[in-house]
Amino acid sequence: MNKREIAQTITGPGKTEPGTEGTAVAPINIALCKYWGKRDELINLPVTSSLSISLSPLGTKTDVRIAEGTDSFVLNDQEISLESPAGQRVVEYLDLFRPDPHTAFHIDSSTNVPVAAGLASSASGFAALAMALDKLFNWNLDTRSLSILARLGSGSASRSVFDGFVEWHAGEDPDGMDCYAEKLPYEWPVFCVALVEISSEQKYISSRAAMAQTVRTSKLYRGWPARARADLEELKAGIAEKDIVRVGRVAEANALAMHATMLDSRPAVLYWKPETIKTIEKIWAIREAGTALYFTMDAGPNIKLLFEECDRDLIEREFSPQTTVVPFFS
Ligand code: PMV
Repeated sequence: MNKREIAQTITGPGKTEPGTEGTAVAPINIALCKYWGKRDELINLPVTSSLSISLSPLGTKTDVRIAEGTDSFVLNDQEISLESPAGQRVVEYLDLFRPDPHTAFHIDSSTNVPVAAGLASSASGFAALAMALDKLFNWNLDTRSLSILARLGSGSASRSVFDGFVEWHAGEDPDGMDCYAEKLPYEWPVFCVALVEISSEQKYISSRAAMAQTVRTSKLYRGWPARARADLEELKAGIAEKDIVRVGRVAEANALAMHATMLDSRPAVLYWKPETIKTIEKIWAIREAGTALYFTMDAGPNIKLLFEECDRDLIEREFSPQTTVVPFFS
């Protein structure tokens, strides 16, 4: 099936009559066991399963309406050009759902993700858009189907349909019908994630391009699938026990292994800045002195600290993070 056929299979035939508007909110997420490598680039099927923590209340709120004429996309009160890469991605996504080629949409999104924190808001963006379309068209989809629809926009968006700890199953089906995310049944009220901005510069290579280049050229990547599978099991066991040392160790090692595969790609991909290394050394020194502090990183130079509430004061003093999220705090 092509992408539109997959979308139509999920949303079901006959329910194409839109209401007046649909609104939804979705959180950003940070992977503790990374999604790194696709087995299908068109429909974002990953090589391995991954596991993330959603960072509510950081995320995206999206309102979608049927419009006259052409599509329009407003982000944080600014009109985004449909010719821009972000605009094009949204238009292509909307193409999957138009009841007829003349249907146009107006999308109004706002995000409270700190712009400079090096956090992709595309995951929460596509999750919120999929959920808003579900409301607009009254599809009444279950979360599994919403996760598949979000994945068609951006792989990691499949995980942003949920709060808390989320596992995204790689699946085996070539059409990806068994490739969806699911919320894990664990609450960990004292678990914290702090965002440390190292650089707000535009990345010199997108995560999408870096991922494809790594899979294609890195010999180290050949070991990644088995490594990621083992890390995922260890991580789930650590989360079930609420063991910050076990979770921190495996999440940090998993992120470093992902960056190792990037360094081994040709040409090498290096996102780190001198300040990234200084921050890692500081984390390690603080840990050496007895604090259970760990980190993870994505395709960029910025660092996400992982720790428990009891160490929050010390860590905020040492790192002045842009923001600290306590995902299970209500
Ligand atoms: O969903 P994408 O194409 O933005 O890829 C995300 C890849 C990483 O952030 C590096 C890892 C992950 O699991 O989120």
